Amino acid sequence: MFKRNRRLRETRNIRDLVRETIITPADFIFPIFVVEGENIKEEISSMPGNYHFSLDRLHEIIEEVEEVGLRGVMLFGLPEHKDEVGCGAYDKDGIVQRAVRKVREISKDLFIITDVCMCQYTNHGHCGILEGSKVDNDKSLKYIAEIALSHARVGADMIAPSDMMDGHVEAIRTILDDNGFKDISIMAYSAKYSSAFYGPFREAANSSPQFGDRKTYQMDPANIREAMREIECDIEEGADIIMVKPALSYLDVIRWARDRYDVPVAAYSVSGEFAMVKAAAKQGLIDEKAIAMEMHISMKRAGADIIITYYALDLCRWLKE
Ligand code: PBG
Repeated sequence: MFKRNRRLRETRNIRDLVRETIITPADFIFPIFVVEGENIKEEISSMPGNYHFSLDRLHEIIEEVEEVGLRGVMLFGLPEHKDEVGCGAYDKDGIVQRAVRKVREISKDLFIITDVCMCQYTNHGHCGILEGSKVDNDKSLKYIAEIALSHARVGADMIAPSDMMDGHVEAIRTILDDNGFKDISIMAYSAKYSSAFYGPFREAANSSPQFGDRKTYQMDPANIREAMREIECDIEEGADIIMVKPALSYLDVIRWARDRYDVPVAAYSVSGEFAMVKAAAKQGLIDEKAIAMEMHISMKRAGADIIITYYALDLCRWLKE
């Protein structure tokens, strides 16, 4: 006799009762871009609905974030000056450092995560220090650690290194511990792929490499076992949370990570994923709300505990409807 699986889909009530995956505002982290200058709230053309904020207007978005019920933000800074070693990234009065202080001023308990990388700050646009035309891993570590420390000093709750240097989590954990920041956690961009989905972000953050690409440090999209090695290294080095990035084309990687490791797994639904949906919605090709909800539910279903997404504000609003 065949089985009547449709019984459990008969009405909305029963469908709600048997739903396996639920997304809530507590799952999401919202990325925010901060720029130098005054009175700036400028829409990022590659990412409609996202803005560059100057510090004096940062409260507008932070208030919105709190209003919709989000718990955390991730801050990205665009400095005025770039140089060979990206010294703006670890300046105690750099753009992100001031932004962290500002957010803390506006909100006592919003969770603040900072992205640790150099590509927005170096004039060559690579994520580390160059030796000739190569990104030198070990030289970069010293700088990466200093950036993380400067974020901790101004009040970041969690440090998220996205540079993909080997040994960066250990370097960061060590410098944080040595300076009394034992309770500041690390969310490592462990399985970060060399992805075309970052295109709109690089426009938003003005962080494209000026020559070559990031293939010598970011991962080949074809590999999943390698992602597990990256994750394992980061956990051993002291990562509290590991991340898979991008999300949508890497749901299998999220699932493997979830099944193999017990640490929380974050997924970063990146700029290209967001921009594609926005563009298709603008043309009337898809139902934006339904598509965005489905995308984020699938990331959670794949095993993500935390989702970093440009859709965070919209999702929170839609979830309330
Ligand atoms: C910095 C960084 C990038 C993203 C997050 N941190 C860009 C890159 O690695 O090129 C991408 C985020 C997105 O596309 O939304 N290294």
